Amino acid sequence: MHMACYFRRSIASKLSRALGRSEDAFISALCAIPVSKKQQSPDFRLSVNTLLRNGILPTNGDLQAQTEALASQLKQDSVVEEIFAGRGVIHFRVSRNLLVQKVLEQLCQERHKFGVKSELFDGLKKGTTVVEFSSPNIAKKFHAGHLRSTIIGNFIANLKESLGNNVIRVNYLGDWGMQFGLLGAGFQLFGCQEKLKKNPLQHLFDVYVQVNKEAENNEVIGQAAREFFRRLEQQEHQALLLWKQFREITVEEYQQVYKRLGVHFDIYSGESFHQQQAQEVVQQLQRRGLLKTTEKGTGVVDLSSAGDMSSYSTVLRSDGTSLYITRDLAAAIDRKERYNFDEMIYVTDKSQGIHFQQLFQILLAMGHSWAERCQHVPFGLVQGMKTRLGEVVFLEDVLDEARARMLRNMSQSKTTKEMVYPEDTAEKVGISALIVQVNKFDPTLKNMTYQPNILFFKLTYLLYETKDKQMDFKGPLGSDYKFDWDRILQAQGDTGVFLQYTHARLCSLIHRYGDREEGAFDPSLLLDQRSISILQHLLRYDEVLYQSVQDLQPKHLVNFLMTLSHLAASAHRELPVKGSPQAVAQARLRLFSGVCTVLANGMKILGITPVEKM
Ligand code: ARG
Repeated sequence: MHMACYFRRSIASKLSRALGRSEDAFISALCAIPVSKKQQSPDFRLSVNTLLRNGILPTNGDLQAQTEALASQLKQDSVVEEIFAGRGVIHFRVSRNLLVQKVLEQLCQERHKFGVKSELFDGLKKGTTVVEFSSPNIAKKFHAGHLRSTIIGNFIANLKESLGNNVIRVNYLGDWGMQFGLLGAGFQLFGCQEKLKKNPLQHLFDVYVQVNKEAENNEVIGQAAREFFRRLEQQEHQALLLWKQFREITVEEYQQVYKRLGVHFDIYSGESFHQQQAQEVVQQLQRRGLLKTTEKGTGVVDLSSAGDMSSYSTVLRSDGTSLYITRDLAAAIDRKERYNFDEMIYVTDKSQGIHFQQLFQILLAMGHSWAERCQHVPFGLVQGMKTRLGEVVFLEDVLDEARARMLRNMSQSKTTKEMVYPEDTAEKVGISALIVQVNKFDPTLKNMTYQPNILFFKLTYLLYETKDKQMDFKGPLGSDYKFDWDRILQAQGDTGVFLQYTHARLCSLIHRYGDREEGAFDPSLLLDQRSISILQHLLRYDEVLYQSVQDLQPKHLVNFLMTLSHLAASAHRELPVKGSPQAVAQARLRLFSGVCTVLANGMKILGITPVEKM
């Protein structure tokens, strides 16, 4: 049994005896308490309100009186050594010896499965989860929003996977639309196959910049673009060939960047895949009597409850072509047929909230009840990411810069000088700095402490949009915030680098003195406050994963790992291994080794590759 569960069970059995309900009724009302500096602080807490809500206690009594009465009914024993009432809650402190022993034994047995086998997850259905994320638009900018989707989606996929789901990672590329008309027309005017072979993305980008500039003053360009797109829609061979080439080049480039970020996809699909199917969806809507034709000749689905078109969604243009939502309908149905998923999660910025709401609503109206298990996970828009004219930054350049700066920071240390591939370490640490940043200066994020994120990032990939250019000159966004390399790359403070640094230090300690993961140790040598705090904190790990999988927010896990790293850093200072009696050294190493394991597990879920040296 999982150790947190061992203690929870033990407390639940007392409650079960006192109140005559099954133990299970109490498990979810119990939670591990965040560590505090106080000596002998309790480990678990029971919310009496939850018992009232669940109908276990009568709701007519005085809450505090009920709490105290219940607390006095529960008897302590050798596992639960102290029980006392607080305000509407009952506190439980478990035996220190058992705490040390159970947690460390569990770690030793489960290692990278630590926490994920907890009975808290028994009620969650394990199945096939489709996570759709990143989904940039080819031949348009890969902006910070896509990067956020990449990082958050990867986290969700990792989390679901670690909890035993079969996860399918889908990248749904925006690979169809007018932008290809412009690029295609541009390529016919300014393109060069030789340059395209040599430096594909740069060349495509140059062409895109040039054709956009031309299009501003030259009507003919716009016509050529529309003409090229029409040829594409009609599946004309030559046009399709060029489109295919652009798509392939871009996907290859993306794949390299994803690889550096440690992200992979099982499927690269895209809007272009569902052109035909979208037409079938329209026919299905028609057959079901859901399609209405407006005066303008567009096809719409009425989504209002009163049937008065106060809310509707357009699924067909007057010229008979499909729209973004039509392709999404087709894609969702196709995925259900292919993968028979139990749930599907879409990760995009919140501006698409209504789009997904309508998508799910139409699917339901079409009789696809599985749409109930589709979910949109939105995130806030990234501000200040617009670039000034000419100031184009490729995502790859950002990664290069993170690596170069990290390498410079590391170059002073002895460990770096001994490394065979310091660039490799610098790359991993640099990327973790991008993934976990703390932005204390952002007023809109007041209630959010840590958010694995790219915030306020001056970043553009294949960007050139006339609109953006103007906005940037006029709008206030540009001056909002300066992305600060020095701040995100520091090893102190709550950064991704700090997590890496703590992990590397623990690894080196373990290497130097040998891994004492196995074998006997004396729990009574770990009863000091620092060790106990760490173990109490580890008791919460399964709950933190549970919270994360409930709301799919990374902040619970990031917060947990930051606290763990702080606790570990102070223990590392105050609880030396070197020079301690052998039995003490052994017990401490066992503790550090456990912390190291949990830290690495959690970092991997966040999408960070832990380094062993830095
Ligand atoms: N390509 C879209 C964009 O960049 C995101 C796609 C989101 N996924 C979806 N199934 N609609 O805005």
